[in-house]
Amino acid sequence: MQAHRVKNLFSVIARHYDFLNTLLSLKRDKSWRHETVKVSDVKPASKVLDVCTGTGELALAYSDKIGAEGFVMGSDFCFEMLVIGDQKLQQPVGAVSNRTTNFLAADTLTLPFLDNTFDVVSVGFGIRNVADLEMGIREMTRVAAPGGRVVILEFTQPVNPIFRSLYYFYFTKILPFVGNLISRNKDDAYGYLPRSVMKFPNCDALKSVMEQYGLTDVQFYRKTFGIVAIHVGKKPDKPSSESGFTRL
Ligand SMILES: C[S@@+](CC[C@H](N)C(=O)[O-])C[C@H]1O[C@@H](n2cnc3c(N)ncnc32)[C@H](O)[C@@H]1O
Repeated sequence: MQAHRVKNLFSVIARHYDFLNTLLSLKRDKSWRHETVKVSDVKPASKVLDVCTGTGELALAYSDKIGAEGFVMGSDFCFEMLVIGDQKLQQPVGAVSNRTTNFLAADTLTLPFLDNTFDVVSVGFGIRNVADLEMGIREMTRVAAPGGRVVILEFTQPVNPIFRSLYYFYFTKILPFVGNLISRNKDDAYGYLPRSVMKFPNCDALKSVMEQYGLTDVQFYRKTFGIVAIHVGKKPDKPSSESGFTRL
């Protein structure tokens, strides 16, 4: 989908986004994000960038693991989504564990950061929506520090055929109906979700794209019967000149 349509879609559903995520994933969304943080090799002093951060849920999950020496930056190009994330930072101390998290309006395809900056560059349910998947991964890799991790949490297609057919009934019929009803969306925003997942590369293909852009040791972990997968790749300590992510 074109970038301006994606931006518009999320601006319309922003208010209902968190509630519907939890409802439609049957409360699995939080544990998927926690698993993502767990496999990211994040340390208290890590510098984390969460792109396509939306309402900031993954950024805030990282924030719980970061000490005063580190920080988390969440970036997104949809202002309405970021505003909701920013409101979470205004909550009393304790609700959000520290104040080392910030949100920034930025396009994932042209991140306003220097090469080799962040220890972890993550994306949760966002890279599927970026107009150019390869450019998105390339840009995430560019801003990752040598030795750092690029981490992708994304919906994928379950492998087991019996489970897949049951799940697809829910995913393509029930989920869009409930999502569009609750968000009062007339443009079928929640029909876009299954359509975009069906078109998205499978786990092996996504791993290959990550490797193509110079990431090594790429592993993926399927979760909840393979509804989602977490991919983690390492940026080499010495960036390869062939991988295309260093600006020379
Ligand atoms: C499904 S939401 C994911 C939000 C959040 N990461 C989460 O875990 O729930 C996808 C987000 O990607 C953002 N997005 C899509 N393309 C983008 C781009 N090129 N640059 C920045 N944000 C983008 C949308 O604005 C939206 O907030």
